[in-house]
Amino acid sequence: MEGWALITGASQGIGQALAAEAAAAGWNLVISARGVAQLEAVAAELRARHGVQVTPAAFDLAEPSAAEALWAAALTASGGQIGVLVNNAGLGWHGAFGTSPEGGAQEAEVIAVNIRALTTLAQLAVAHMRAAGAGRVLNVASTAAFMPIPHMAVYGASKAFVLSLSEALAVDLAGSGVSVTVLCPGATDTGFFDRAGTGTMRLMKLLPMPKPEGVAQAGWRGMMAARRIVIPGAMNTLSAFGPRLLPRALAARLAGVFMARSR
Ligand SMILES: NC(=O)c1ccc[n+]([C@@H]2O[C@H](COP(=O)([O-])OP(=O)(O)OC[C@H]3O[C@@H](n4cnc5c(N)ncnc54)[C@H](OP(=O)(O)O)[C@@H]3O)[C@@H](O)[C@H]2O)c1
Repeated sequence: MEGWALITGASQGIGQALAAEAAAAGWNLVISARGVAQLEAVAAELRARHGVQVTPAAFDLAEPSAAEALWAAALTASGGQIGVLVNNAGLGWHGAFGTSPEGGAQEAEVIAVNIRALTTLAQLAVAHMRAAGAGRVLNVASTAAFMPIPHMAVYGASKAFVLSLSEALAVDLAGSGVSVTVLCPGATDTGFFDRAGTGTMRLMKLLPMPKPEGVAQAGWRGMMAARRIVIPGAMNTLSAFGPRLLPRALAARLAGVFMARSR
């Protein structure tokens, strides 16, 4: 199975590593993010290293209709041959709920990108792939999806949405030839935390931060094997499923301790 893959948030971090996985496996790519120069640089490197076609498509997925416009651009670039969607673009905002500057604009952006754009792209891709009788979707959630996340409440809730949506779709799509996989990384060594304004949290002092390449490899392989959930690493599996053994109120309070800035 090879053809064209659309990967969002592919200019850096986990998305860039996913794009490298896809290109190494011979997939032509449409890669997306806002930063044009970074996207062009990633595209040039993948073309040179792997000899695949790579089309950069710069969109701000927080903007209304950007997901629809990106999908249309991806279909045009691929000649209607998108066989893989990787819904990876995402962001977070660290701080007490209701205190984000500009009247909650940061949290609105988290919802727009992590939930609205991801859902729209999944809808468009699933419709297209159903008609073709084949396709793979990889949605990037987080181990944060498994428990309430104080200090990043909207981010945690957005990832719980992605996990729930993906697990439901995997059942809805059984027998269609289209699979949906949800990748749930734990804390990973990218620029995500700087951009989210977390500072150094207790979590980062306690847990090792793996590189994005291993996370991407686990996600790409899991998607190709049509697995429903991929949680890379034993510690992350423990932190995803451990809270199930606790009363939810206690799990939330503990998560709050780990997510607090360390002094
Ligand atoms: N790093 C972690 O610890 C971790 C853990 C669990 C889950 N995740 C999830 O993994 C995914 C990738 O995270 P990462 O760590 O690789 O983060 P990252 O290094 O900050 O990369 C995020 C990517 O998303 C793009 N993006 C952000 N806002 C966008 C917007 N409004 N429109 C279009 N593209 C946008 C960024 O490019 P531009 O800024 O140029 O737009 C970038 O390519 C996210 O969904 C994140 O929630 C990360």
